[in-house]
Amino acid sequence: MSEATVNAPANSSRRTWLITSCAMGGVGAAAVAVPFVSTFQPSERAKAAGAAVEVDISGIQPGEKIVVEWRGKPVWIMRRTPEQLAELDKLGGQLADPESARTAVPTPAYAKNHHRSIKPELLVTVGICTHLGCSPGDRLTPGPQPSLPDDWQGGFLCACHGSTFDLAGRVFKNKPAPDNLEVPPHHYISDTRLLVGEDKQA
Ligand code: FES
Repeated sequence: MSEATVNAPANSSRRTWLITSCAMGGVGAAAVAVPFVSTFQPSERAKAAGAAVEVDISGIQPGEKIVVEWRGKPVWIMRRTPEQLAELDKLGGQLADPESARTAVPTPAYAKNHHRSIKPELLVTVGICTHLGCSPGDRLTPGPQPSLPDDWQGGFLCACHGSTFDLAGRVFKNKPAPDNLEVPPHHYISDTRLLVGEDKQA
């Protein structure tokens, strides 16, 4: 199995990845800028084959999120702070599927917990909205702000139609997105290296 190595995060090695968002009400398409780690890219052939992507996670600071590409999708890797993790336990009643029980976008067994991850602090999720495929933006700062409730605790906002997700990628109730963000197959090779695209048993 061919694999690709991605070193992260180093500002000098980042580029901006433009994702064409969905058309809104026939008005047209918007583009969302996403920081993207790109010191090494899989070959086109490897990407088409869905090659797993190896990521150096040692440099991701608490509260920081990086993006890598797997199968043409943006995969977010975020190291949540203890404060951010503590908030996840309080949101259950506001979420559409707090236990990740829905099956349209199945959550791997190892991520069926409140933090939706293998390591509590490290979120690994596909950054594509489950409504019509836009890429949600970071709204990591708690507190009142445009398009968000006053008791916002940090998370992600899909600007296309207003779906909101918590810092575990769980969608809030009564939003257009029907499901939580996808958790890709992944496992840790070591304390500092993550393989996106393969479960441990694969
Ligand atoms: S694509 Fe419609 S809310 Fe995200």
